Amino acid sequence: MRPPMKVLVIGGGGREHALVWKLAQSPHVRTLFCAPGNAGIAQERIAATGAPVQCLPIGAEDLSLLLTWAQEHRPDLTVVGPDNPLALGVVDLFEAHGLRAWGPTRAAARFEASKVFAQQFMQRHGIPTARAATFTDPRQASQFVVSLNGRCAIKADGLALGKGVRVCHNLNEAQTTIEDFMIRRVLGEAGQQVVIQELLEGIEISLHALCDGQTVVPFPTAQDHKRLGEGNTGPNTGGMGTYCPTPFLDEAGVATVYEAILQPWLRGCRSEGIVFRGLLYPGLMLTADGAKVLEFNVRFGDPEAQVYLTRLQTDLLELLLATVEGRLASCRALQWSPSASVCIILASAGYPGGYRKGVPIHGIEEAERLPGVKVFHAGTARENDRFITRGGRVLGVTALGPDLSTAREKAYEAVRCISFEGMQYRRDIGFQALEWIRSHKS
Ligand SMILES: Nc1ncnc2c1ncn2[C@@H]1O[C@H](COP(=O)(O)OP(=O)(O)OP(=O)(O)O)[C@@H](O)[C@H]1O
Ligand SMILES: [Mg+2]
Repeated sequence: MRPPMKVLVIGGGGREHALVWKLAQSPHVRTLFCAPGNAGIAQERIAATGAPVQCLPIGAEDLSLLLTWAQEHRPDLTVVGPDNPLALGVVDLFEAHGLRAWGPTRAAARFEASKVFAQQFMQRHGIPTARAATFTDPRQASQFVVSLNGRCAIKADGLALGKGVRVCHNLNEAQTTIEDFMIRRVLGEAGQQVVIQELLEGIEISLHALCDGQTVVPFPTAQDHKRLGEGNTGPNTGGMGTYCPTPFLDEAGVATVYEAILQPWLRGCRSEGIVFRGLLYPGLMLTADGAKVLEFNVRFGDPEAQVYLTRLQTDLLELLLATVEGRLASCRALQWSPSASVCIILASAGYPGGYRKGVPIHGIEEAERLPGVKVFHAGTARENDRFITRGGRVLGVTALGPDLSTAREKAYEAVRCISFEGMQYRRDIGFQALEWIRSHKS
């Protein structure tokens, strides 16, 4: 039996609410902190003790304050939710001070923090990806996009707050993007180097896999809906809804992806001396020519975490500890609920552009009274006895059901309980899967 543990989660969005909610159920967790957390996280209670989760007024990127707090309170494990603190080296910093932290080191986080590093790594190790090249010279970049007829994805090298990728369908869009990124430098230094990939067509899915440096353990597949508008139209967002599992890759399909992508990735890491401990989340395009990697992320997706963690039955703390301690080989058989999970994001008016904050939210309690429904908070705050909005993505309404269409109906039923001025959401989460299921039945 493990001694009772003190855990710190870094971050304060919907993903971190899901992580905290799941960790709070672990029989081993005695105290749980979240920096900075949010109003929903502050409501969670630890199953073993009934004690509340404590939110700390420390930003997820304030590494020196996080370290000061951790040195004083000595958490047994720190779990890093978002990519920015990972790219800033929070895990290296904690480890250097004898503090155990879950997530990749700064060097390993380059798979997400540098599109150039990730693309060149894939090319070095034969990982299936889009035809692509890296440029620092806008003229050469222009010649390459001409060779692709303007159909390409142009990606600025550094982290650019989700604005660093433009998908182009013609030469005009591509040339404008090259000008914006590389000459006008609308993203600052991030535009000094760009990766240009050919445009891939197919169904886009999210893969997640835990890795302890030696062993990779894949999850079932999930799908996010990154565009704001129904039918995958409109601007890109942080993600408007997810579901898990997807029908597009069965177990054999995941095994093929494991062989073709995760194995060569791990071999590549080992040959280059990269010890990756944490979660690898490749964005995949399922093309006519097989699965290809669009990009790597090095943390749970948001809102993928919400659907994965509502289905995960294995103790999350055990899994995270096994990752940090290099024991994943003994945890290969993850237990997943046979239910499907669907998460619908409720966003503020104006998102992903500018939006108003402080709008009162109604009906969260009613939604959560429905069986199988969990409302994860992303951008909320507490004002007296009510919740108000504080972010672009406000809530992730998540429901489990025996199959995708039932889970989806339940999630939308819960959504109908909730309202705030200007609330927007997509009404078609899971549409590709439902179409796929329909067409494969007949
Ligand atoms: N080569 C490509 N072909 C077609 N679509 C692409 C390609 N590359 C990227 N995209 C689309 O653009 C989106 C954003 O690209 P990418 O995932 O590389 O950027 P990101 O800023 O890291 O996004 P995220 O915030 O999801 O991590 C993808 O989710 C995908 O829909
Ligand atoms: Mg990314």
